Amino acid sequence: MPNSRRPKIGVFDSGVGGLTVLQALIGQVPDADYLYFGDTARLPYGSKSAATVAHYAVGAVRYLQDHGAELLVIACNTATALALPEIKAAAAVEVIGVIEPGADAAVAATRKRKVVVIGTDATISSHAYRQALEMRSVAVREKACPLFVPLVEEGWVEHPVTEQVAKIYLAEAFSDEAQDADVLVLGCTHYPLIKPLLRRVVPEHVAIVDSAESTAHDVARQLQIEPLSDTSKRRGVPGLKFFATDSADKFRRMGTRFLGLPVENVLHVDLKE
Ligand code: DGL
Repeated sequence: MPNSRRPKIGVFDSGVGGLTVLQALIGQVPDADYLYFGDTARLPYGSKSAATVAHYAVGAVRYLQDHGAELLVIACNTATALALPEIKAAAAVEVIGVIEPGADAAVAATRKRKVVVIGTDATISSHAYRQALEMRSVAVREKACPLFVPLVEEGWVEHPVTEQVAKIYLAEAFSDEAQDADVLVLGCTHYPLIKPLLRRVVPEHVAIVDSAESTAHDVARQLQIEPLSDTSKRRGVPGLKFFATDSADKFRRMGTRFLGLPVENVLHVDLKE
């Protein structure tokens, strides 16, 4: 039975990057109220320890739950990779992370059953993608690309420096036994913004996938809404409310670039340690 009630969905990320996941969610499930939490004062998560990330993420999802979230989406790859069990243990509602959906997207796209995953240092060191993909009988080469997050935040999405950095990272990623990998998984919220640049850098036969769309499919399925391949057919006006731990004004300005929609209604939140 399709769900007719308007759901309240909490989306958590370390900052503005998770707005790329929110964009996909809005495409699949526009008839919902979204509460988006960006922990901008404490990012980046990608260079932090698992214990610190778990502590921050649990505080943030409790906040979302206290504000009425009935379903939680962990849009941050690092938080999903390092802290999903802790987040699930602390939450009283269903929690969906981005790594399992990302692995599903990779499996759907690979013919050679050989993929390359790029992400933050913390995500790659956790080997969460490796585990998820090997369980699906797919061979994996993992490569940390820590310079991409600051470059994207700087707005250098089409900059020659970013292109040079991408060439170095991806030449290493697609070397030796990974030469014939046919899928590149963007295992970080920021990377979809440099997808056109990455497209030029990776070999032509490589499909580039990210977890945003397949996470949105999982959310639609969880809510018993039929997933759509053509999201232009879905109608509805989402409710959007944002919480940021650093400046609301900065979140508004940067967020608009990541979401592709005006980001208004931002509340500054001070989470006590
Ligand atoms: N949101 C993080 C991720 O997807 C990237 C930014 C950060 O390091 O906090 O891994």
